[in-house]
Amino acid sequence: MTAPAERSERVTLPRHGGDRPIPRTVLRGARLVGADGEHGVHDLWLADGRIEGLDLPGDAEVELDARGLVATPAFLDPHVHLRTPGQEEKEDLASGLAAAAAGGFGTVVSMANTAPVVDDPAIVADLVARAAELGLARLRPAAALSVGMRGEQLADYAALRDAGAVMITDDGIPVADAHLQRRACEYARELGLVIQTHSEDPGLRQGGVMHEGAVSHELGLPGNPAEAESVMIFRDGEIARMTGARVHIAHVSSERGMRVIEFLKAEGAPITCEVTPHHLTLTDEAWRDFDPVVKVAPPLRTAADVAYLRDAVRRGVVDCLGSDHAPHTRAEKERDALTAPFGLPNLEVVFPLLYTDLVRAGHVPLERLLDLLQDGVARVMGWAAPTLAPGAPADVVLLDLEAEASVEPARFLSKAKFSPWAGRVLTGWPVATLVAGRLAFSRTR
Ligand code: DOR
Repeated sequence: MTAPAERSERVTLPRHGGDRPIPRTVLRGARLVGADGEHGVHDLWLADGRIEGLDLPGDAEVELDARGLVATPAFLDPHVHLRTPGQEEKEDLASGLAAAAAGGFGTVVSMANTAPVVDDPAIVADLVARAAELGLARLRPAAALSVGMRGEQLADYAALRDAGAVMITDDGIPVADAHLQRRACEYARELGLVIQTHSEDPGLRQGGVMHEGAVSHELGLPGNPAEAESVMIFRDGEIARMTGARVHIAHVSSERGMRVIEFLKAEGAPITCEVTPHHLTLTDEAWRDFDPVVKVAPPLRTAADVAYLRDAVRRGVVDCLGSDHAPHTRAEKERDALTAPFGLPNLEVVFPLLYTDLVRAGHVPLERLLDLLQDGVARVMGWAAPTLAPGAPADVVLLDLEAEASVEPARFLSKAKFSPWAGRVLTGWPVATLVAGRLAFSRTR
């Protein structure tokens, strides 16, 4: 690895099996930072897939010059769409998990709205096995809440959990039937599984393609009101309180929705919530050129909503980030505003975007952003907090907080090579990501 100033183009590593030998590795002179603050400049040693310790003697098989770089636990993402099985023209495990590693993520939770839907333990087991062979980011699949995501019949959560599913969700399709949501929560609670909701009331949402407000009225596009979200969050939070299930509210987009979450939390409902990078950085104004690249569900809201979400992050109301990386083909996103699919790819820009717009802009300290990407996700999922302490998994990201680069979608490792942030110059980029002690991504080598 070269010094930051000399760093050149990003280079993907050759595809490699996760079973190849793990080299003893040292990251020389890294500034160790975590959600709990700064831990000084050290040589960080990794061996046998785990953190070995600081400033150790001996020889390394791989030596990375980390001077001037931050070393911190690789990020966790509770919400990505990897489109496999069945929609590999949009994304597959190799491209999606490479994109995750390029974004600094060591672990991602994949959504179940594939074709077929992930409602069968054999599909879960196959995803886990195929991802492990790649040796990129770790994959922890979510499974569907209802069979076929049809909102009629519960899937077999015990079998899905035994196969490796870590979350239950019909994300992409709201669960219209409150009784089904209640039964899902009761079942998941017995198994200790997290239920994630896509909280948009189908009746209020109707055919809305963007936020309902002044801009949608001006543009003449069908609107989706913030109340579609807040009403459904209230229902889902009340069912969480009633059943005691751990319910995670995905991609909160509106001030109204966040205020309802604050109310429910104050009432003791066992809920957590996430916000996405796009809802923290873009508004419905982005629709003015009618480009469905910004068509997402829930929709981009107003500047006041963005300001409220940012403040909720600062106040600690938001438990974690969820990218909602949702790749589609360019052809699909080039359709008109009404028929293009919802979703945008973002795994590779999450950190620089939020470091630039939240941390450098002075809204939150770096530690708060790291908490959203590390410990916060672990708390939501019930996982051990990621750490660089000896014995922990050697999942580490090196960040160059000074590096400036423009977003170039053509160079995304994701198959979805478009972005609403294309051309934006952002500061603070992942330089290398190690997963279980192996380089899963490096910008140079
Ligand atoms: O924008 C979105 N795209 N929101 C969702 O909830 C689903 C996702 C997708 O699957 O494309």
